[in-house]
Amino acid sequence: MGKVTPLKLAVLVSGGGSNLQAIIDACKASDYPAEIVLVFSNQLDAGGLDRGRTAGIRTEAISHKGYAGGREAYDTAVSALIEETGADLVVLAGYLRLVSTSFVQRWQGRLINIHPSLLPSFKGLHVHQAALDAGVKFTGCTVHYVVPEVDSGPIIAQAVVPVLPGDDAGTLAQRILKQEHRIYPQVIRWIAEGRVSTNDAGI
Ligand code: GAR
Repeated sequence: MGKVTPLKLAVLVSGGGSNLQAIIDACKASDYPAEIVLVFSNQLDAGGLDRGRTAGIRTEAISHKGYAGGREAYDTAVSALIEETGADLVVLAGYLRLVSTSFVQRWQGRLINIHPSLLPSFKGLHVHQAALDAGVKFTGCTVHYVVPEVDSGPIIAQAVVPVLPGDDAGTLAQRILKQEHRIYPQVIRWIAEGRVSTNDAGI
């Protein structure tokens, strides 16, 4: 049997890129059905760009600061770049920038995100502190398809972690990240293998 054509991924990051690294590492396995064709960042100094370069992946960055034309024009440029690489799936991995509705529509059903809470609880930023403040005993992470409304959209997978006595936002974030690194590559595998169904709207 011939090797299946790998799913082409564009991974968008803003920071350190530990989720990107987990995907890079997963892609090294000969039976992993995906490959990264682009690492993109809106932050010129994102650590994730170094991880991409080290892995020999095409990396690109465009600063959003002062971009002429605003969010729509910026996202059009990002879309053009992704299209140029032939990516099949856009993977937001700590991409801490709101994407425009037209970007979401352009990649509908081919755009996923990971968020460090059990959605629909704790949307937005500073979610670890929010979980601690709420006194929940369990939290976790969610991989979901992206829709125009922030941190919403059909959930594909979640992982649960306990909140332990003495936790602060940092220790909790680390415990959740470990699970993020496990489920994000897993979900990408499922999508590549056609095991994730989409609804009538294509998401
Ligand atoms: C991750 O915890 C990810 O879930 C979160 O940013 C972190 C990025 O870490 N994303 C969001 O909060 C999106 N709303 P990384 O750069 O080490 O992968």
